Amino acid sequence: MIKFYKHNLNKNKNYLTKTLGGQYLTSGPICEEVESILKKKFGKKSAFLTNSWTNAAISILLALKVKKDDEIIIPACTFVACANIIEIVGGKVVFADIDPKTKLMDIDDCLKKITNKTKAIMPVHLYGNLFPTFNLKKKIRKNIYIIEDSAHAFSGEYNNKPLGFYADFLIFSFYATKSITCGEGGAILSNNKQLMENIRSIANNGMSKPAFKRFENNKYKPWDVKSFGFKANLSDINASLLKDQILNYKKLSNTKKTIYIKLKKKLSNLKQIKFPSNLKNNNRDYYLFPIGVNRKLRNELIEHLTSKKIFVTVNFKSITDLSFYKKKYKVKNCVNSIKWGEETLSLPFHAKLKVGEINKIYKEINSFFEKKI
Ligand SMILES: Cc1ncc(COP(=O)(O)O)c(C=O)c1O
Repeated sequence: MIKFYKHNLNKNKNYLTKTLGGQYLTSGPICEEVESILKKKFGKKSAFLTNSWTNAAISILLALKVKKDDEIIIPACTFVACANIIEIVGGKVVFADIDPKTKLMDIDDCLKKITNKTKAIMPVHLYGNLFPTFNLKKKIRKNIYIIEDSAHAFSGEYNNKPLGFYADFLIFSFYATKSITCGEGGAILSNNKQLMENIRSIANNGMSKPAFKRFENNKYKPWDVKSFGFKANLSDINASLLKDQILNYKKLSNTKKTIYIKLKKKLSNLKQIKFPSNLKNNNRDYYLFPIGVNRKLRNELIEHLTSKKIFVTVNFKSITDLSFYKKKYKVKNCVNSIKWGEETLSLPFHAKLKVGEINKIYKEINSFFEKKI
């Protein structure tokens, strides 16, 4: 069996010893430590750990006071959470098509879709391939927020500037299949300290002080609720798994890059397969391994590989083609996104993928296409 994904946590390591020996199981000193590591790593003034990317993004949109008719532009081909978070706060989703080569959001299409109601744009570093935020930022009005969805990338530079450099907010996911994981989790990074304080409070049921800060130095600190919120903070139990993975990410990322190159080289022998292309000046990260095939054969290929115990999936169908969004928004002009959504499948890809497994993936895809001639 070739698994789609394997995590990189060490089953023999006691990640929780320090946390269980302390007082705070919820957000406390461990979260604070991880947040300061993240701030330093990405050169941002503020970092906040959340219990998912999704709840991190909802907290941001609530802090930005997104209201009915406020528009937020997202690429049409990404994970559905990007649209759901806008629906939840009552905003309007605006879909930009993707670039047919890179599969990242098409900047020209995004610019065409900006109106005076555009509140934010959310580019996605899809598959770990970095979106060139600067090329967008220099062409838009200053009061449009840029929220980078970095659920797929944890390192990389574009034009020598690190991930998130040009963004107002950068959001990570630490979901089970992500390169860094704590089961479920997320993080927000930003230089806007005021908004980040509001976000922290929103993510803690609107309370001005989390439990950890309420009992600091054995003194009780009063708290208040100035605006409503919900629950989106990460626990110290989850955060305990993150520190090592963050500090050792470079090694993991290099391993994944080496495996990506090997797998791509092998599959490049198959003319029936297309790969998203990389941007120039982009030192990208490597999260998923998507390929594109003739859309009429895509589902059959998925069935063939699954029957050979090679586990694959679709990342992603165009959101404009998902029943809820198709019915509500009736978008027809994101043709590249719809096409890629019908052609794409993601192959097994993780840091423990062996050469024998790469050869088997190649062999099975090759034998599938040979039977089609
Ligand atoms: C591109 C993208 N954005 C957002 C998310 C949501 O992350 P989470 O599951 O942490 O909410 C995912 C998760 O798979 C994703 O792939």
